[in-house]
Amino acid sequence: MPRPEDVTPATWAIVGGRPADAPGAPLNTPLVPASNFVLGSERIYSRNEATEGWEAFEALVGGLEGGEAVAFASGMAACAAVMNRLPSGAHVVLGEDCYQGVAGLAEAGARDHGWVLERLPVADPAWPAKAGEADLLWVESPSNPLLEVADVGAICAAPRRSGTRVVVDNTFATPLGQQPLGLGADVVVHSATKFIGGHSDLLLGVAVATDPALAGELRRARGLNGATPGALECFLALRGARTLPLRLERASANAAVLAARLSGHAAVARVRYPGFGGILSFDLADAAAADAACRAVRIVRHATSLGGVESTMERRNAHPGQEHIPPGLIRMSVGCEDVDDVWADLDRALGAGA
Ligand SMILES: Cc1ncc(COP(=O)(O)O)c(C=O)c1O
Repeated sequence: MPRPEDVTPATWAIVGGRPADAPGAPLNTPLVPASNFVLGSERIYSRNEATEGWEAFEALVGGLEGGEAVAFASGMAACAAVMNRLPSGAHVVLGEDCYQGVAGLAEAGARDHGWVLERLPVADPAWPAKAGEADLLWVESPSNPLLEVADVGAICAAPRRSGTRVVVDNTFATPLGQQPLGLGADVVVHSATKFIGGHSDLLLGVAVATDPALAGELRRARGLNGATPGALECFLALRGARTLPLRLERASANAAVLAARLSGHAAVARVRYPGFGGILSFDLADAAAADAACRAVRIVRHATSLGGVESTMERRNAHPGQEHIPPGLIRMSVGCEDVDDVWADLDRALGAGA
């Protein structure tokens, strides 16, 4: 069922994707760990045909984003299914700062299929004009990890060459922060591993398209590539998504406080915070200072990934392929703890690197 117009996304996160309202029906979609089903219905084998768990998760996310959702085994599986539809020689525009896995996919396409890969600064005003030239505009905003913000509205509204697709990675903003399909994007992708799942206990991805034919093609590609999500992952992601509005509200409020306090800290050279959401980055003097701070935190965990209820941080330049990131930059995923406890921990840890 699509989200009714009078139901806000914040409410849909709680009421969407539930079993039909009938006496005795469970409120939550049951976990059904089955690979195959008794023949005689359209449900045959769970690599190809949706199980109840995917259907419920897809209904939830489709309603949040305003399109038809296709769930995948991971965010990268969703990104690959969308990007790998491009023909040889396609012209792809991608942000200079973006998730390294997506950059890797595009680079592989350039190497193996002759894609012409153009990298633009995320906030470059040239993006809308590219919609008239390129085959694919891949917009990640806010970007990972520099938190640069693209003018998603202008890019989506720009006149497009026939066949040009605008894809927005909405992982950082979440569907509560921005809804690119409503602005005119063709596809939204998510690493549902992050804020949608929200508890750092699953890997899951989703692509949401406005065109049902494209959604059908993505579904077919998913089955052929075996990039299907697991029943448990969908169950956990559904449960996690119920609290997305609450978690995001708390994480954003905490992040705003931490961004302001970090800006006034003597050890911090620069804070990057787009003004909303739960991710911020800050620059320390050098890699050694950042490593020392990451080792010293106790409440904040030194870990990769993001979007969970717990605060995490890491030095992004330590990862291969992230050499363009300042060596002392720490990306922090702000969680839902008491912000004063997180600040006390950070403040003490920043002293360790001084
Ligand atoms: C913005 C963004 N997109 C896509 C992905 C890939 O998602 P996954 O790790 O679920 O495959 C990530 C992972 O960090 C990400 O940060």
